[in-house]
Amino acid sequence: MKFTDEIKRRRTFGIISHPDAGKTTLTEKLLLFGGAIHEAGAVKSNKIKKGATSDFMEIERQRGISVATSVLAFEYNGVKINILDTPGHKDFAEDTFRTLTAVDSVIVVIDVAKGVEEQTEKLVEVCRMRNIPMIVFVNKLDREGKDAFELLDEIEQKLKLSVTPLSFPIGMGYDFKGIYNIWEKNVNLFTGDSRKDIEDTVEISDLASEELDKLIGEKAADNLRDELELVHGVYPEFDKTAYLEGDLQPVFFGSALNNFGVRELLDCFVSIAPTPRPKDSETRTVKPDEKEFTGFVFKIHANMDPKHRDRLAFIKIVSGVFERNKPYLHVRHGKNLKFSSPNAFFAEKKEVVDISYPGDIVGLHDTGNFKIGDTLTEGEVLNYRGIPSFSPEHFRYINNADPMKSKQLEKGVDQLMDEGVAQLFTLEMNNRKVIGTVGALQFEVIQYRLEHEYGAKCTYENLNVYKATWVEAKDPKSEEFKDFKRVKAKFLAKDKRGQLVFFADSQFSLQMTQQKYPSIKFHSTSEF
Ligand code: G4P
Repeated sequence: MKFTDEIKRRRTFGIISHPDAGKTTLTEKLLLFGGAIHEAGAVKSNKIKKGATSDFMEIERQRGISVATSVLAFEYNGVKINILDTPGHKDFAEDTFRTLTAVDSVIVVIDVAKGVEEQTEKLVEVCRMRNIPMIVFVNKLDREGKDAFELLDEIEQKLKLSVTPLSFPIGMGYDFKGIYNIWEKNVNLFTGDSRKDIEDTVEISDLASEELDKLIGEKAADNLRDELELVHGVYPEFDKTAYLEGDLQPVFFGSALNNFGVRELLDCFVSIAPTPRPKDSETRTVKPDEKEFTGFVFKIHANMDPKHRDRLAFIKIVSGVFERNKPYLHVRHGKNLKFSSPNAFFAEKKEVVDISYPGDIVGLHDTGNFKIGDTLTEGEVLNYRGIPSFSPEHFRYINNADPMKSKQLEKGVDQLMDEGVAQLFTLEMNNRKVIGTVGALQFEVIQYRLEHEYGAKCTYENLNVYKATWVEAKDPKSEEFKDFKRVKAKFLAKDKRGQLVFFADSQFSLQMTQQKYPSIKFHSTSEF
């Protein structure tokens, strides 16, 4: 197949949702359609149910054995689909933000009863800011939930999206009768007695036909006709360009658990979702069909087996083809590296691949060369943008609890930071090390992993910081900046890259500082 045809047939996306909305169930059903798995229950949930570290460890251990869950690839009607895993738990939001830099589109899952939830809001905001095309799937229609119009309103308001339904539910909960597929213009009836059967549906194509009245009853049929009239009156016609530009979001309804409405979603997705998109680097925009390979690391997965401390760096291919055993430039280190066993991911396994195309993800074994955001090329010095660090919200001093193991501690902390587990800061005034994280769970994770993977022990000490912000001075030589550095000396630190960071102890002090020093900018991400 031609290089450009390989690009055209790829769709790389992520499913985002608040925990419990049905992301894992939907993923599994998509894989079943692709024939990538043959039974339900094959996809491991990455859910942290109790919010406990032990849960996290268990998940990581399982993943260590089957890292394949990070990327699930399958073929459907000649299209190669790559699903990137995005943890729903809020403590791992940063992981998800970073994964979103590697997707070309997303599917947002919303629980029909709970509506738009907190995590969904945050993740959708990130996608919206980057104009990532989004399709919304309203799940659990087999349960009582919110009225469809009410929900569409809520999605528009809370998520600041402009929606247009491409399917519409007929009834809900116990009375759930099926879906009118606006996209394909047919009715799909939900008639499964057990409500668990796959594709136990009837199709009729004419909305006006009496057959509809016979099938769902006159009242429901009239109701549906009225509702669809309203849909056409209120919502814009679907427009693919608007969707691809992030200006319009189609909505589907269904029940992932019952495998209802999933095929419709998948068929539409395959036909409208974007092929690999161009990506901005610091110097230029790189197009997928450029001949030379470029790619970037968006995730590093540690091997949880202490005997093999190697890691797997996940590279998204942006342009060209990635070939096994060919030397590529590691731009940050300025040296060439060759990879003898790059992994491609499938639903239940990973395999060594000789060649991969734009949109694909390859996993490279790594002994500590990579950190998140690193770029690989065929020689061009180029750095991809868009993988910033975010302002952490939890802070603790980290102390060495075993003086004999200080080297191990240093190495462990260094590698964990490269993996993006947390951020390390060095206070300017006393050189003490501070760890900042997005979620509180990470502190335990770090402690556990330092001990089990590096043989090092650490303790923490509390530190009262509300937020860390990256400092940008208009003129670093100005009196204003000098004054800021003198007055705030106690609150200044450097991040791992040596960028200056201001630790505000409260929202109030951050505001006051901003007012006092108007020529200085305080950024909540490291990339500005
Ligand atoms: P997540 O990955 O987004 O966190 O959600 P997940 O798929 O694990 O689904 C959360 C719960 O919602 C699961 O139940 C799942 O079975 C259920 N669910 C998913 N889709 C539907 C649906 O269409 N209808 C109904 N009624 N339920 C749905 P659980 O009891 O938490 O887990 P499990 O023990 O059944 O796996």
